[in-house]
Amino acid sequence: MKGDQKRVLVVGATGYVGRHIVARLHEDGYRVRAVVRDEERALAPGAYGAPALAERVDEWVVARGGRADVDAAVMSDVDHVVSALGVTRQKADPWEIDFLLNLRYLELAEEERVDSFLYVGVMNAATGTSMVSRSKHAFMEALRRADVGPQIVNPSGYFSDLTEIFDLARRGMAFGLGDGHVRLSPIHGADLAEFCVSRLRAGAGTWDVGGPEALSYREIVQMAFDAAGRKPRYVRVPGALASSAVWAADRLSPRAGSLTRFFLEGMQTDSVGVPFGTRTLRDYFASLSDQLQRSAERGGRSRTAP
Ligand SMILES: NC(=O)c1ccc[n+]([C@@H]2O[C@H](COP(=O)([O-])OP(=O)(O)OC[C@H]3O[C@@H](n4cnc5c(N)ncnc54)[C@H](OP(=O)(O)O)[C@@H]3O)[C@@H](O)[C@H]2O)c1
Repeated sequence: MKGDQKRVLVVGATGYVGRHIVARLHEDGYRVRAVVRDEERALAPGAYGAPALAERVDEWVVARGGRADVDAAVMSDVDHVVSALGVTRQKADPWEIDFLLNLRYLELAEEERVDSFLYVGVMNAATGTSMVSRSKHAFMEALRRADVGPQIVNPSGYFSDLTEIFDLARRGMAFGLGDGHVRLSPIHGADLAEFCVSRLRAGAGTWDVGGPEALSYREIVQMAFDAAGRKPRYVRVPGALASSAVWAADRLSPRAGSLTRFFLEGMQTDSVGVPFGTRTLRDYFASLSDQLQRSAERGGRSRTAP
C-alpha cells in the first residue's frame, strides 16, 4: 500500500480492452497511470465504442517508441500493473511488442516489487505456431516465473473483432473455415475489464474467460445475418485454401504471414472460457444495426458501436 489509493499502471491503455480497463479502474476508485503513445488520441473515444480516456486518467506517461523509450520512473510507487499491450492491427513485430516491450515493464515491476502484474493474453497461445502466439506465450512464461503476483487472463474473442462478421453479413456473405463448428464465447470489452479489475486482489493465477454465451462460429454468423436483416449466405473455405493464404501472406511480409496464421489458427480451435458478464453478442449486433439505421436517416455513415 502506497498512500490510501492504490495506483495502477495500465500499459496498452489506448486499445479496445485497455480503454475499458482504465474506465473500470477509475470507476472503482483506483488511481490510474496510463501509458500512451499519443495523448490527444487517448483523450478521444476509441474504436468499437471503447471509452475516451479524458477525465479517467490521473497520471499520463507518453512513450512513443519501443523498449528504449520506457523510463524506469514509469513504475515508481505503482501497486498493480495491468497490460493489454499487444500487436493487433499495428505495423509492428509481435516479438518486439508482445514479448520484449511487456518484458521491459515486467522487469521494472519486479524492481518496484509491485503487488500484482495482470496480463491480458490469449487462449491457446501455447499451441499456436504464429509469431503472435509465440510472443505472447513467451511473455506468459516469463510472467509466471516473476516475483510480481503474476496474473494471466486469457479471453475468448472480443465483440470488437466480431464486428467484421457483422460487416460481412451486411454485404450479404460471410466466410468461415469448414462448417464453422468451432466454438468461442465472445466477450464485450467492458465485461472483460470488470473481470480483470476484480482479479487485482485475487492473488496469482491464470484464468480463461469468455462472455455469457458459448457459440459456434456458424451461430455467430447467423446472428450477424439476423441483425443485418440479410438472407444468410455462408461460404465454406476449405482447409487447404487456408494453408495457401498463409503461404501467400508470408511472401507479402512476415507480419502479414504471422497475423494470417494467428487468425486462421484461431478459427480452427475452440476458445471457450468461464462465462462472465451480461452483454450478449446478439444485443451488440442489434445495436450496430440500429446505429447504422440512425446514421443513414441522418445521411451519415459514422459508427461508434456501444
Ligand atoms: N481481439 C480479440 O478477439 C482478442 C482475443 C483475445 C486476446 N486478444 C489480445 O488482447 C490484447 C488487447 O487487444 P485489443 O483488441 O485491445 O488490441 P488493440 O486495440 O490493438 O490495443 C493494443 C494496445 O497495444 C498498443 N500497441 C500495439 N502495438 C504497439 C507498438 N508497436 N508500440 C506501442 N504500443 C503498441 C496499442 O497502442 P496504440 O493504441 O497506440 O496502437 C494499444 O494500446 C492483444 O494482445 C490481443 O492480441 C485479442
